[in-house]
Amino acid sequence: MTVQTADWKRTVHCGELSADDEKREIVLNGWVNRRRDHGGVIFVDLRDRSGLVQVVFSPERLDSDTFSKAERLRNEFVVSVSGTVLRRPPGQENPDLPSGSIEVYADSFAVLAEARTPPFPIDKMGDVDESLRLKYRYLDLRRSELQEAVKLRHSITRSVRRFLDNEGFLDIETPMLTKSTPEGARDYVVPSRVHPGSFYALPQSPQMFKQLLMLAGFEKYYQIARCFRDEDLRADRQPEFTQIDVEMSFVDAEDVMQAMEAMVRQVFFDVLGFAAPESFPRLTYREAMERFGSDRPDTRFGFELRDLSLGLADSGFQVFSKTIASGGVVKGLCARGCGQAFSRREIDQLVERAGDFGAKGLIWMAVNEGVKSPVAKFLSDDEIQYIVQTLEGKPGDLLLIVADSFTTTCDVLGRLRLHLGERLGLLDDSLWEFLWVTEWPLLEYDDEEHRFFAAHHPFTAPVSEDVELLVGDPGRVRAQAYDLVLNGVELGGGSIRISDRRVQEMMFGALGFSMEEAAAQFGFFLEAFEYGAPPHGGIAFGLDRLVMLLGHRRSIRDVIAFPKTASAFDLMVEAPSEIAAEQLAALRLKLSL
Ligand code: AMO
Ligand code: AMP
Repeated sequence: MTVQTADWKRTVHCGELSADDEKREIVLNGWVNRRRDHGGVIFVDLRDRSGLVQVVFSPERLDSDTFSKAERLRNEFVVSVSGTVLRRPPGQENPDLPSGSIEVYADSFAVLAEARTPPFPIDKMGDVDESLRLKYRYLDLRRSELQEAVKLRHSITRSVRRFLDNEGFLDIETPMLTKSTPEGARDYVVPSRVHPGSFYALPQSPQMFKQLLMLAGFEKYYQIARCFRDEDLRADRQPEFTQIDVEMSFVDAEDVMQAMEAMVRQVFFDVLGFAAPESFPRLTYREAMERFGSDRPDTRFGFELRDLSLGLADSGFQVFSKTIASGGVVKGLCARGCGQAFSRREIDQLVERAGDFGAKGLIWMAVNEGVKSPVAKFLSDDEIQYIVQTLEGKPGDLLLIVADSFTTTCDVLGRLRLHLGERLGLLDDSLWEFLWVTEWPLLEYDDEEHRFFAAHHPFTAPVSEDVELLVGDPGRVRAQAYDLVLNGVELGGGSIRISDRRVQEMMFGALGFSMEEAAAQFGFFLEAFEYGAPPHGGIAFGLDRLVMLLGHRRSIRDVIAFPKTASAFDLMVEAPSEIAAEQLAALRLKLSL
């Protein structure tokens, strides 16, 4: 079939039509979203990227050839329809559809492409197996939820760019084929044909390049940058993902945080019309762990952790006294109302869950007139009183207590807290709780490998007064680092950078690099600091996570046009895949599988 171009070109989008267009003659282009045959009259919901409109094919308006062609329309056919906009008869309006007060009476139409029956319905968001959706991603993307997510993503990047452009940041691209940029994951590598036996690494982030751009004098940089990390994937991770990457010269941590608060405020205002606060609360890492048992606290609800060690060090109950004597802590939280609301079985399940989280046990106390607890008999009245008062237990509450090392105690209670928050419906989706976590430890000790790792990356500056500890007591060094947390999700992280070669060498030393190793891997970078390095710092936001949160999506895959599965596989193009023997030979690679 040949269709004359002039005849089928659209004059208006489906979703733009309203009662104001009554009697207008128009041409629409789009897909048949759904076709209904109502005894002689055919109704088609026509879909384009703006939305839907109802098109009516009536035998009264169409000659019999055209009408019988309309009878052969099927879902997902691509059509061009010329027609007239008419008001729907009273009572036939569809309030759920923006164009629902009108319909378009077809005068003629052309089928631009036929379509096979799709492997899952496009016109409704039923429960479709995700692997099928990913295999046919181009069909999945036709569905309204994904159309909206992709558009939301664009409105966010547009707002980010507008803000940063206005603030004088320069958008500068950095290489994709490069050398390892350590961010704590494995590298994806690309073999070089021209340099046999040598490999590029895909960037885990543009970190070193953006710092070098500061050394080069650009002062304010940004990039919406693709990053690659070969790591164990989780619900909110992808092997390739996008950062809003920012770096600034002649700044301290406060300057970066304030600039980014303004950016985030702008984005939330542009995209949601939500006015975020002028300045976000700041919590030190220690405080975040103490109060919420997490380095990315969800502050949408209470149930804060309290320390009980002070009053229980001499307890006759050895779980408490021994733990404290050996350097551990006793902490607890008060689950409001749960003493009353939870059955004994539900409480036992909580204890089990604490075990799964790594606790040796979980002590519970149901507060009423007195307290009910399996360990009440081991505790003095004063101790019970102290616990109830410190945790502010009221009748009906459930107190949960863990005794262990600081890290385990905080972690277990932090996870129980989140579990309870979720279970009790306290994670209100309409709230936006931002906060900065500051003063991170610079290094973390790995008990298995017996060495320190950078808690962020090796270019993070220590707090000035801690610099000399790098040599004697690296575990105690605090970093000039800050993470932005939103509703318990780490949205972004950054720091003031080391800009002095000596300190950078001390850092590599603390990480266990010999000077030769440091020079081999980072020599160019260390040398750069000798040519006039301005103080500088920056941050990177996870764009995908930001879109996920703003769009209330559960999975990061729902906000990426072409994502990979949890095992880093692209089901549509089937990547990764084998390559031809000639390609391997040209790269001088041999497989040993
Ligand atoms: P960081 O490693 O914290 O910092 O990364 C910054 C932000 O990127 C997001 N992110 C991810 N999103 C999806 N999938 C992943 N696999 C993934 N990994 C990280 C997170 C995170 O907060 N160069 C530093 C930034 C700096 O210091 O300026 C960096 O990359 O939201
Ligand atoms: P046990 O002395 O091991 O029988 O434990 C007595 C009670 O204390 C049980 O209810 C345990 O679940 C609890 N318990 C044991 N170890 C810990 C711990 N480290 N933190 C919190 N509760 C614990």
